[in-house]
Amino acid sequence: MPKLDSDRAEDIEIIKQRKKEGIEIPLKEDVQARTRSTYLEYVKLIHNALPELDYDEIDTSTIFLNHKFFAPIMIDSMTGGTPEAMKINQRLGELAENYGFAMGVGSQRAGLKSQELAETYAIARKNAPNAFLIANIGGAQLAKGLLINEIREIVQMIQANALVVHLNPLQELIQPEGEPRYRGVLQKILELVKSLDIPVIVKEVGAGISREVAFNLENAGISAINIAGSGGTSWAGVEKVRAETVNDDLKIHLGELFWDWGIPTAVSLIEVRKVVKIPLIASGGLRNGLDIAKCIAVGANMCAMAYPFLRKASESKESLFKFADIILAELKSSMFLVGAKNISTLKRSRYILTGDLANEVKSDESK
Ligand SMILES: Cc1cc2nc3c(=O)[nH]c(=O)nc-3n(C[C@H](O)[C@H](O)[C@H](O)COP(=O)(O)O)c2cc1C
Repeated sequence: MPKLDSDRAEDIEIIKQRKKEGIEIPLKEDVQARTRSTYLEYVKLIHNALPELDYDEIDTSTIFLNHKFFAPIMIDSMTGGTPEAMKINQRLGELAENYGFAMGVGSQRAGLKSQELAETYAIARKNAPNAFLIANIGGAQLAKGLLINEIREIVQMIQANALVVHLNPLQELIQPEGEPRYRGVLQKILELVKSLDIPVIVKEVGAGISREVAFNLENAGISAINIAGSGGTSWAGVEKVRAETVNDDLKIHLGELFWDWGIPTAVSLIEVRKVVKIPLIASGGLRNGLDIAKCIAVGANMCAMAYPFLRKASESKESLFKFADIILAELKSSMFLVGAKNISTLKRSRYILTGDLANEVKSDESK
């Protein structure tokens, strides 16, 4: 039976509310990892007392997916689909444009529902006419039968340079209205790669990518993987808080049990780097420029942050831009201290893996 206009209006209201909570909960509640970290603290870059370069010479620029970036920094996929997202995506777009960062928007299925919601994503492109923008759809939606013309509309909505498919089985499991149905997703990704003429990236949302998954994704022909490991924002945590508001006791219980589930960011990155050749994006709990330098040294081509950019964007454009300046200074300082004049030298710099990270990846020193 075709949907009545009143049903459609109700759907839109429900989506707006869910997207609003998706921004508000990370900002108002502590939904970061609790008992496990990214393991990046176990990566030790080697101090170089004789860097033989001047700080001002350091070049942070890099090429990723045939595009030049001022620094290997990406604003990870976050929001859209609610009026509250307008200001955030506007400011993040301004940041991407002014700083030469890549930027992802949040899951865009909501934008197909109405022009008003499409605008909450499109505002990013309006403010970032030259930036590398990444469209976003969910693996579960893909499996459910998102049509190729709907996906093209999603790409067009922000005139995207790439499309990311997010894999979020843990979130779908804990989300009160979630759809934990992943059968057939890999085949759909493969078909998607064949039918689109822009790069397809696949990402997690904070539980990490294993080497087996990475291997299968590379074989499906995708262009890059965002490993988005655990140690940062916990989507089990976000959905547990949402489950509390609707008294869903089972989801509350599962959210608590699986709060810190996943592969720590450093473990995921190192393991995946061993088995695939395609570019990797490190994400999940990266909080400063030293984290970025460490990820580049152990194998990332690009580094993404979500929550820290959201927090600053929710304050003001000034505090967002100031934060970006600090991150860049931290990255450049790390490069100076290891004697890396540019990103390719940083990629080759020596590091030591210690503690639990060394145990998990079964290696204590490399390169
Ligand atoms: C407020 C918020 C909304 C998010 N929404 C999405 C989304 O719609 N699609 C997606 O692929 N990832 C989404 N993510 C996940 C991030 O892209 C990222 O993978 C994850 O949060 C780990 O990074 P962090 O620890 O720096 O926050 C969201 C993250 C946050 C904080």
